Amino acid sequence: MDFSLSEEQLMIRDAARDFAQNELLPGVIERDEQQKFPHEQIKKMGELGFLGMMVDPKYGGGGMDAVSYVLAMEEISKIDASASVVMSVNNSLVCWGLETFGSEEQKQKYLTKLATGEIIGAFCLSEPEAGSDATSQRTTAIDKGDHYLLNGTKNWITNGGNASVYLVIAQTDPEKGHKGINALIVEKGTEGFIVGTKENKLGIRGSDTHSLMFTDVKVPKENRIGEDGFGFKFAMKTLSGGRIGIAAQALGIASGAYELALKYSKERKAFGKEISKHQAIAFKLADMATEIEAARFLCLKAAWDKDNDLNYDQSSAMAKLYAAEMAMRQTVEAIQIHGGYGFVKEYHVERLMRDAKITQIYEGTSEIQKIVISRNILKD
Ligand code: CAA
Ligand code: FAD
Repeated sequence: MDFSLSEEQLMIRDAARDFAQNELLPGVIERDEQQKFPHEQIKKMGELGFLGMMVDPKYGGGGMDAVSYVLAMEEISKIDASASVVMSVNNSLVCWGLETFGSEEQKQKYLTKLATGEIIGAFCLSEPEAGSDATSQRTTAIDKGDHYLLNGTKNWITNGGNASVYLVIAQTDPEKGHKGINALIVEKGTEGFIVGTKENKLGIRGSDTHSLMFTDVKVPKENRIGEDGFGFKFAMKTLSGGRIGIAAQALGIASGAYELALKYSKERKAFGKEISKHQAIAFKLADMATEIEAARFLCLKAAWDKDNDLNYDQSSAMAKLYAAEMAMRQTVEAIQIHGGYGFVKEYHVERLMRDAKITQIYEGTSEIQKIVISRNILKD
């Protein structure tokens, strides 16, 4: 076993750390308060290669491994989880989905721009009545010969307002159940496609989450990803990798809160000594450090499975489940270590706690990760 990182992986981690400190930290509180999308910062992330990290360089990507992606996601998420969710959706749902299952024409047309961050993408599975129960798609894509006619509503779509390309899951043949579902590429501006109002959220407030409405939207047949009826499997396979990104996001949120709590505990004095010298605080830090390291290993293991062409459905679900639950627990503790100061915005930890909450919900709730894990361990 070798736990060491390569020089290239360390370089990517350090570049992400520097970018987060220099470009994301300034203004992060204001962006959260004002629900302001980090346009400039996302543009720079594209230029630095953070939006198509794992894409083959022939399509404009960085050709990096999933381990490097986890390292970068952790660093970006320590500072700004709103920016990191844009990064996660673009890298591991949109780019990966297109690169792995898209046609050469689709890759040339869309992936090359998505991988460089020239445009960003969105992944549209959830609906008002189909969240965890993702096979219950109500959005329909009726086969009209040379095109599909798309009708329905998608909910909670990350990058909903700022994306240019949307991967939309819809039911073509209800009689076939999940085997009648397709995944279609829909461009912004297509007639009948309306972006709904932006959600006012508890956390990741700098990211934009919208519902999307489709009324008789004509989608050319060549925009279907994979064979007819492949859409649900496309979504599930893509989400297995997406969950590695969100696990790393949760890890970053927790490690960001831990670093702040550690620093604060060495500066703040109570009863004549630094609060870190009170055992109750020192033990909280010990628990944080241990749980964060455990989450990091789970994230890196899932990424390593992916890099080595092993099945990662279970390891990614485990990483996401553990990292998300841990991030929620430990960001609360980071506030406790800060006392009253933790409750106000300028100390960052209250935002990290609000941001942690979403990691237990999106890309499959914690309960759904337990379904995935238990089905895997029970199937033999
Ligand atoms: N890879 C390939 N195929 C898979 C698969 C995988 N990882 N997981 C399931 N499938 C296949 C199954 O094999 C089955 O196919 P067959 O009938 O041919 O065997 C088919 O998919 C249906 O699977 P299930 O019978 O297991 O379906 P289910 O109704 O019991 O649901 C579920 C399974 C795991 C709960 C699934 O519905 C699920 O993942 N729900 C959560 C949805 C989710 O994660 N949404 C996230 C939206 S994106 C997002 O949130 C982005 C963001 O915030 C930033
Ligand atoms: P429900 O499925 O209604 O679940 C409600 C509760 O019931 C949860 O606690 C759930 O765990 C539990 N539950 C449901 N079924 C079971 C069961 N079988 N066993 C045990 N417990 C169960 N979706 C996209 O497609 N693309 C995106 O980009 C995207 N971004 C998002 C961004 C944000 C900020 C948010 C809030 C959501 C986003 N989502 C996105 C949607 C997200 O994936 C769903 O919210 C999530 O999958 C849960 O679905 P739901 O909200 O309908 O909850």
